[in-house]
Amino acid sequence: MIEFREKVCCSDVSVKVGRGALRELESLPGRKCIVHPKSLKPDVKGDLEIAVEDGEKGKDLRNALEIVDKLLEHDFTRGDYLVAVGGGTVLDVAGFSASIFMRGLNLVNVPTTLLGMVDAGIGGKTGVNYGKAKNMIGTFYQPSLILDDLSFLDTLPTEELRRGLAEVVKYALVLDKELYDFLSLNHSSVLNKEESALEKVISSSVRDKLAVVAEDERETKGVRIVLNFGHTIGHAIEAGSDFTVPHGLAISVGMVCEAKIAEEMGYAEEGVVEDVLWLLQLFGLPISLEQLNAKIDVEKALIAMTKDKKRRGEEVLLPFPTRIGNWRGVRVPLETLEGFAKQCLGGN
Ligand SMILES: NC(=O)c1ccc[n+]([C@@H]2O[C@H](COP(=O)([O-])OP(=O)(O)OC[C@H]3O[C@@H](n4cnc5c(N)ncnc54)[C@H](O)[C@@H]3O)[C@@H](O)[C@H]2O)c1
Repeated sequence: MIEFREKVCCSDVSVKVGRGALRELESLPGRKCIVHPKSLKPDVKGDLEIAVEDGEKGKDLRNALEIVDKLLEHDFTRGDYLVAVGGGTVLDVAGFSASIFMRGLNLVNVPTTLLGMVDAGIGGKTGVNYGKAKNMIGTFYQPSLILDDLSFLDTLPTEELRRGLAEVVKYALVLDKELYDFLSLNHSSVLNKEESALEKVISSSVRDKLAVVAEDERETKGVRIVLNFGHTIGHAIEAGSDFTVPHGLAISVGMVCEAKIAEEMGYAEEGVVEDVLWLLQLFGLPISLEQLNAKIDVEKALIAMTKDKKRRGEEVLLPFPTRIGNWRGVRVPLETLEGFAKQCLGGN
């Protein structure tokens, strides 16, 4: 079991990564409300259990309010715990409920997908969908404990594992050269879910993301933006495909495009694009639009890109890889970005 702790603003976040990490719940004081998806009933005893719908449907504002209703009905108080067990969708909706209930109920995240373990469960962003506003309602709220129990990954399909690996590759490319080297040498152990390899990639990813979040919790200092590498073009691809392309695959192609832009604009050292392509291919992740096998409406993609939450006036702050494990933020005029994006998306 790998254990560590990071201070994020005014909260201490403890992390445990390893098979059996879930048992840690037994020693929590106070009452526990376990929120989990209908399809996955975890082997944990709670004082209250709430099953939410699977996937994106479960991430609705109404579900968050239903959780709050049940907490009130069962007299939960701020000393009690909300334990979110599930993929990123469940973590997002449950985290949001915990953050608004009595201005904050103790939150424990127990991610059950690789994406949840290396990304959604860390960093304190919560979000719900409301009508057409996807992820537009949310809070910053840190869990006090994150339990990454590897036994959940036994049942996770390889395709879901791969999607989470896209985020792991992202950390390696812009933040962590040591992780890049590890992934290059151990890709088959990771894809075969060998325990020590998974423990290593998950704990490195959590440390990398938490360190960034500790420096810039609310995305106000131009540091947390690094986590957006591949996501500007990636989101455009998702939107242009009417969200038929899964997020992890879209950001995989997005990282290739953004690395190429960085190189063309003279910010990335020679060879960075090849290094990006090499690692993504080792994990069977797509490196071109053709490999996504999806119809992309370029116009729709570009509109989504210009509406991106990260846009500031006529510029977009992009995190560019400079060399493996390093990055810098660059303000790119929207027009320039659109030109490059058209090239990547084949609209030119
Ligand atoms: N808050 C954040 O910082 C943040 C970051 C990244 C992503 N997200 C959000 O996370 C969501 C995506 O997360 P996700 O990819 O985990 O999706 P998900 O929660 O929909 O889970 C993916 C699928 O895997 C299944 N599943 C979950 N655990 C399983 C297990 N152990 N074995 C077998 N199947 C299992 C789920 O039922 C679901 O069908 C999106 O809504 C995204 O917006 C949030």
